[in-house]
Amino acid sequence: MNHFQRRKGELCCEDVPLSRLAEEVGTPAYVYSKATLLRHARVFRSALRGLDVLACFAVKSAPNLALLALLAREGLGFDIVSGGELFRVLQAGGDARKVVFSGVGKRQEELAAALDAGIFQFNCESEEELQQLSRIAARKKRVAPVALRVNPEVDARTHPHIATALSTSKFGIPAERVLATYRLAASLPGIRAVGVACHIGSQIASVKPFAEAAEKMRALVLRLREDGHDIRRLDMGGGLGVPYGDGPEPPSPRQYGEALVRVLEGLDVKVLVEPGRLLVANAGVLLTRVLLRKQGRGSRRFVVVDAGMNDLLRPALYQAHHELEPVARPRRGAEVVDVVGPVCESADVLAKRRRVHPLATGDLIVMRTAGAYGMAMASQYNARPRPVEVLVDGRSWRVIRARESYKDLIRGESP
Ligand code: LLP
Repeated sequence: MNHFQRRKGELCCEDVPLSRLAEEVGTPAYVYSKATLLRHARVFRSALRGLDVLACFAVKSAPNLALLALLAREGLGFDIVSGGELFRVLQAGGDARKVVFSGVGKRQEELAAALDAGIFQFNCESEEELQQLSRIAARKKRVAPVALRVNPEVDARTHPHIATALSTSKFGIPAERVLATYRLAASLPGIRAVGVACHIGSQIASVKPFAEAAEKMRALVLRLREDGHDIRRLDMGGGLGVPYGDGPEPPSPRQYGEALVRVLEGLDVKVLVEPGRLLVANAGVLLTRVLLRKQGRGSRRFVVVDAGMNDLLRPALYQAHHELEPVARPRRGAEVVDVVGPVCESADVLAKRRRVHPLATGDLIVMRTAGAYGMAMASQYNARPRPVEVLVDGRSWRVIRARESYKDLIRGESP
């Protein structure tokens, strides 16, 4: 459910016609719906009722301050993977005491900053990281609450770039090293081993891998308690998929919640979850304009738009499918086209061999489900200023990140 709908044939975000936004702020533009984001946050949290839950939004999926501020006001915590993300969360008014720090390679100054901020938990992924964190915490006379991110070796059956719990993955502590690593954690000054964590991948389209991971994590919590570790937190990571318009329909938050509740109820742990995509993907679109049409070889037809792979990387990097549709009332009929961007790369294809309503130069179109990992992964490749971001709230809207200028492109450089 999202708040991008047609009114009198024309696509709107909540009560604002997207054509009006394009006039005011130009294209390409990321447009987010506040009502959609909040709805997703509420549905997700209510799906986990029955567990003592801390939901930490994965900042990497949509790091804009305005979006973080909305979620902070909803009471969400944050999953961060860098000092930069911690800075963003604090700037947005997020509560450090609800922050989880994930990631396979944290710099010492990032660990120090997170300790100073008093975050909720460090998810550590290696013995060396534990030792480094221990040294810094001991020096500061602080105690770092730590969960070890383990690799539950569950096949999440998702795109190989976003599967993280295969046995070959760089993420997490391998199963056979987990007990020893906990013993190490328990022996180190400045470290309090309070939990276990996992994250099995992203855009996961079935409940089964989550249930499997939860079973394994449950067994691990019990095993660690037998070893004398007082494990009271279990972080299940993020990863629940969203419908992109192709592939299987992912489970609903409720089905996901039921699976977790079934396995984890009565375990006496605080359950952490780190949703990113689920909350924000459908709350955002990429608004772009057709620059021109171009006839390729034979029947190949290209529609060249003003957004490229630098603005929305997912199709090029993961062959991801994003539904696209015209903003104005769709013309009758259909054609098969390649919708491509202006970037000088053959991979700069937003939609390949896509059946669409006929498109003409000057048309506005949207790429749907672009709120997560859209702007977050945008770059300035080809010296293209990154898009403007707009947040719509009912009939009103505001720019939450200005379109970059040419000056922004050269900031910090000297000829
Ligand atoms: N927690 C951890 C430790 C993660 O690594 C991630 C995502 C999440 C939570 C959030 O996962 P989500 O709920 O959003 O699936 N750029 C890719 C996705 C990369 C995901 C990386 N980690 C894409 O555009 O599909």
